[in-house]
Amino acid sequence: MGRRLLPRTASCRSFNGEFTVKPVKVGICGLGTVGGGTFNVLQRNAEEIARRAGRGIEVAQIAMRSPNPNCQITGTPITADVFEVATNPEIDIVIELIGGYTIARELVLKAIDNGKHVVTANKALIAVHGNEIFAKAREKGVIVAFEAAVAGGIPVIKAIREGLSANRINWVAGIINGTGNFILTEMREKGRAFPDVLAEAQALGYAEADPTFDVEGIDAAHKLTILASIAFGIPLQFDKAYTEGITQLTTADVNYAEALGYRIKHLGVARSTANGIELRVHPTLIPADRLIANVNGVMNAVMVNGDAAGSTLFYGAGAGMEPTASSVVADLVDVVRAMTSDPENRVPHLAFQPDSLSAHPILPIEACESAYYLRIQAKDHPGVLAQVASILSERGINIESIMQKEVEEQDGLVPMILLTHRVLEQRMNDAITALEALQDVVGNVVRIRVEQLN
Ligand code: HSE
Repeated sequence: MGRRLLPRTASCRSFNGEFTVKPVKVGICGLGTVGGGTFNVLQRNAEEIARRAGRGIEVAQIAMRSPNPNCQITGTPITADVFEVATNPEIDIVIELIGGYTIARELVLKAIDNGKHVVTANKALIAVHGNEIFAKAREKGVIVAFEAAVAGGIPVIKAIREGLSANRINWVAGIINGTGNFILTEMREKGRAFPDVLAEAQALGYAEADPTFDVEGIDAAHKLTILASIAFGIPLQFDKAYTEGITQLTTADVNYAEALGYRIKHLGVARSTANGIELRVHPTLIPADRLIANVNGVMNAVMVNGDAAGSTLFYGAGAGMEPTASSVVADLVDVVRAMTSDPENRVPHLAFQPDSLSAHPILPIEACESAYYLRIQAKDHPGVLAQVASILSERGINIESIMQKEVEEQDGLVPMILLTHRVLEQRMNDAITALEALQDVVGNVVRIRVEQLN
């Protein structure tokens, strides 16, 4: 049974309302965009945060390589060595905001070894090394909190892990990369060029150190891996996520999608099926009237469909200094509240009890099912449409609608745009191979998956 080691909030306050219990000391590793935001929010809202946590939260040390001009850190001890924070006997909670996999992993494991709780915004670290980190944390009886790792300021980890814990989750679908969504929005609304928008996202501090993580879907796959684990109670399996980026998207497809009543979003989808779990990130056509299709700019949104609650939608800033800091600080408050409770009575890292994780497999993309948008560039000859239709029907692929545009002046080709019903990816792969082999079809067939999300 749980046994409290320290009195709770009420007994932490004196008669004049001041907190009499010593503040919890935290160390911030990394004073970049998120680290700077975390420091500032902790200073600015110190009183409000202490009223919630039941104790003050004091930044006792900062590890940083260079000063952050947005932060007034005078009086706070500084080091250039993150491992000093992990071993500092004064510090109760290490906040890992350095990013990356290698030093961050060593830092977090060292902090845990030294009995520190950890708060991190590092989705790559959790997605790739989370199983190892959580096992070590359980061994040492410490908490590793990671709300800021997914969807910036949206408390979606807490919502799925706690708020929706009555449900069998059917699927999760989200716009979970702010940079990618910002780029797609600017391209669609203002016709801006890809590199230009990406440079702006970098300047605003949205993009990863390596922006290919954003535009190739790796960052979204890290986040989706985490969401799938806490939604379905499976170990983290980033290596099995299917990832497709937005770099190949053309304005033509964005416009044809609009004409058909859809928006193209870079979506992460995790779906539980009888055969296994789909875990995939790719550009996706979504009906334009869905709320999630209208999530623009750096905003993120995650839809969760559970058997009891039905669909819920969580929306907010997916990146940026203070939105992400909001989640880091919320985790700090949770850790402060829970650090005096017995480890076995805490919310499990991955939502499900660690000895109850499921071995339901992650499906390869060929075994996933979705509807498709196809764009075929064909010569303007009689019978091409009939050939296309017969290739699809021979494979049991049901066409939902066809749009044939006028001949394009520059190449004399006719763009044919098709929407299909849901079909297994492998079957669509076979159909595309056959379509591309037709004499009258020129170049590759463009394929974009379609999700109705209803
Ligand atoms: N690069 C990420 C994004 C930052 O653009 O969403 C937040 O994880």
